[in-house]
Amino acid sequence: MPRLGLHRQRRWVALIGGFSLVVGVYWFFFSSGLPIVWGPTASAADVAAGRDLFEHDWTPNDPLAKGDGLGPVFNAKSCAACHFQGGVGGGGEISHNATGFEVLPRANDPRFLAGSLHNFSVDPADKESFKLLRKQFPVKAGRVETRTVAMENCPPSQQRTTIPDFDPVRTQSVQSTAIFGSGWIDRISEKAIVQNMRNRAFRNVGKELSLNFDAVPVGKLRTLPDGRVGRFGWKAQFASLDDFVATACANEIGLGTPAVKQAKSLANPTAPDVAPDLDRRQFKQLMAFIDTLPKPVEARPDTAKEQAAAKHGKDLFSTIGCAACHVPDLGGVTGVYTDFLLYTLDDPPPPGGGGGPYGPEPPPESPRPDDLPKPAEWKTPALWGVADSAPYFHDGSAQTLHDAILRHNGEAKSVKKAYAELPAKDQAAVESFLNTLKAPPTAAPLRDLAVTNLRRK
Ligand code: HEC
Ligand code: HEC
Repeated sequence: MPRLGLHRQRRWVALIGGFSLVVGVYWFFFSSGLPIVWGPTASAADVAAGRDLFEHDWTPNDPLAKGDGLGPVFNAKSCAACHFQGGVGGGGEISHNATGFEVLPRANDPRFLAGSLHNFSVDPADKESFKLLRKQFPVKAGRVETRTVAMENCPPSQQRTTIPDFDPVRTQSVQSTAIFGSGWIDRISEKAIVQNMRNRAFRNVGKELSLNFDAVPVGKLRTLPDGRVGRFGWKAQFASLDDFVATACANEIGLGTPAVKQAKSLANPTAPDVAPDLDRRQFKQLMAFIDTLPKPVEARPDTAKEQAAAKHGKDLFSTIGCAACHVPDLGGVTGVYTDFLLYTLDDPPPPGGGGGPYGPEPPPESPRPDDLPKPAEWKTPALWGVADSAPYFHDGSAQTLHDAILRHNGEAKSVKKAYAELPAKDQAAVESFLNTLKAPPTAAPLRDLAVTNLRRK
């Protein structure tokens, strides 16, 4: 009976189709994407060659480089100079902090500019300085504007408005982060980051409905101009590890790659381009090393007493709200402790006060582009390996974990308060837990400590 057969078949098709639709819609809205099935891998030969490039002390016209080697401007001579705490690939010392700058749109140039002021140059004529930056982007002096206002039944009066000085330049010192486990962060799906944010927003609405307004606000996702979600860097300014690494080569050491040209000096912005210093193969090797840097670990303390304290601290970390932003597991990566979202951890300035981490309010004719994070916004840093990466915060201003926690104000104020109100023993337990988050014991030891000796004058 072919007719009935066809009927049944249709029913099955409809049933399976409907079921797939339901699963599809559910997956689209509620799942956090696919778990990571394959972690980072690379051939041992590429990893070893990449490590050599990472630790290499670059010189001008370096024999390893295909272009002009180190410079023209640079912050250090090797990647390892800023990434060595707890082994090759760790964080760096504050003496190597990089100075970033931003220039807001000005009357004669509507562009928003961003760059970094390099600490060194190969040729003294290329030396960058704040003075040079200031000369190129001077402060626009304030003025007093007088307007005559006429109102009905009143004699015309003079209204004076004071327009303050406008400084289009902002500088910010940022410290190097540890890059262990970066390959895993690179593999977290965008969906997982977005879904975690949505789930938080959903839970917050639930709390508000039950009239509990203590919920930690949900951070901001940074969407880059190409539509991808930013996750690397203190401002989540890069979406992928290879983009960050190519920029680090160009900016920190002055090594051009096929993807990004080497930085030019502010003193000589029209210098001719040179051939990339690293060719495709070398860049691939450098990436192989960085991508496969081991993940930080949660170490088990030695004694039963310390283990109990760390366990208690880990529980408190969740119950007092730290885990709202420092999300322990995301997108199939366990123990990463971040949500990759931007938050403001400084209290807002007093009205009319300006200054501080917020910076002066730009005048209406020179607005800050909306899609850029505000000066006081920073990405929740991953806390894995945090025991081995002091000092803390983007500027390295918090010396200890305790100081770092107490610096959480603004959007993390309620959580900071909960921590500050804990008995000393419980506060110590939270720190004991953070102290179990260590650099990977399998990280390679630094070969040549001399590379770290280049200091900013
Ligand atoms: C002068 C110091 C310095 C040198 C040299 C340096 N870095 Fe960094 N590195 C930093 C700083 C500072 C940051 C944080 C930058 C930011 O977020 O704006 C950073 C961050 C990173 C990150 C991002 C980590 C994350 O998860 O957000 C990667 C990857 C990285 N560096 C790779 C490299 C590589 C590769 C080299 C060598 C080509 C290098 N760095 C050389 C200072 C340095
Ligand atoms: C509202 C989100 C939020 C909450 C809640 C939060 N943090 Fe943070 N945390 C951040 C951000 C953002 C930073 C980086 C700020 C900066 O660099 O200016 C940070 C930085 C840190 C650092 C320094 C990390 C480093 O590498 O420099 C530590 C340690 C830390 N937090 C621990 C905690 C603990 C413990 C709690 C709970 C008491 C907590 N945080 C609650 C968002 C949060």
